Amino acid sequence: DWTMAEFRAAKIEEIRAQVGTDKVICGLSGGVDSSVAALLIHEAIGDQLTCVFVDGGILRAGEAEQVVSLFREHYHIPLVHVEAQDLFMDGLKGVTDPEAKRKFIGKTFIDVFEAEANRIGGARFLAQGTLYPDVIESVSFTGGPSVTIKSHHNVGGLPERMNMALVEPLRELFKDEVRVLGRELGLPDVFVGRHPFPGPGLAIRIPGEVTRERCDILRKADAIYLEEIRAAGLYDAIWQAFAVLLPVRTVGVMGDARTYDHVLALRAVTSTDGMTAQAFQFPGDFLPRVSTRIINEVKGVNRVVYDYTSKPPGTIEWE
Ligand code: XMP
Repeated sequence: DWTMAEFRAAKIEEIRAQVGTDKVICGLSGGVDSSVAALLIHEAIGDQLTCVFVDGGILRAGEAEQVVSLFREHYHIPLVHVEAQDLFMDGLKGVTDPEAKRKFIGKTFIDVFEAEANRIGGARFLAQGTLYPDVIESVSFTGGPSVTIKSHHNVGGLPERMNMALVEPLRELFKDEVRVLGRELGLPDVFVGRHPFPGPGLAIRIPGEVTRERCDILRKADAIYLEEIRAAGLYDAIWQAFAVLLPVRTVGVMGDARTYDHVLALRAVTSTDGMTAQAFQFPGDFLPRVSTRIINEVKGVNRVVYDYTSKPPGTIEWE
């Protein structure tokens, strides 16, 4: 039997053989996968690795601070924190098609990584936390016809011309295995247990045009939702929970005034590998309480709905 300790040792040798004495850039997303990939590669090649964390304005509340402190303070692994909000927001102007968003974001990440690679005197490799399901779903859907469901920016969303070769040490693993490997590498439990977060971030949770204002509204609502999930002790029972800001406004009433604001959808699913999923059933008073809090506290939202769709036929993310 293949244990995680053996996997770790074998991968470290593989990474050393692939990379030699060259430098590697690793893009961190704030999720478990890229963090585990970075730790593994750091163990293999030490300071030949530079981690890059890009803030394109499409991160959740507190994400940047958490990642920066984990890597710089906890692990003492050098981390470049790139503030690229203008670059992403300007480029997303007017883009509404989900695949166009994904392609733009994937390409822009690579542009930033390549600029950083040049800045450190040239890196020949780009590392990513691509998992087995990412590979499968970007190529074809299980058992179905060979069509792309979504170009995950880890895989299909990358530009065809790229100056760096990929290092993807987690390509054979499922999420639960990555978590075991993360523990093996000493990643703190709170980090190992984090819900997945997609590379294109909040941009694929805002159907229609992505703007700074919409990202801010979504960030606030999402933070309240997750805070309530943690407070209710439900975080670990859920595979992934997040809010989606709809490009639809509806009429409401607050006090004795008419409102005309956005609809927010809440999603929470259970899953074992992200390839299939079921809507999470919250206990009776949870959703009404969260809806009320969001509508009272987040300016711009006056209606909250819950998404009961399974995967399939839905996907977990809305785009
Ligand atoms: P879907 O929406 O395809 O998502 O059912 C399955 C899982 O993959 C995550 N996801 C992504 N992760 N880059 C990532 O790193 C991406 O482009 C991407 N798109 C979706 C999604 O959050 C879910 O956990």
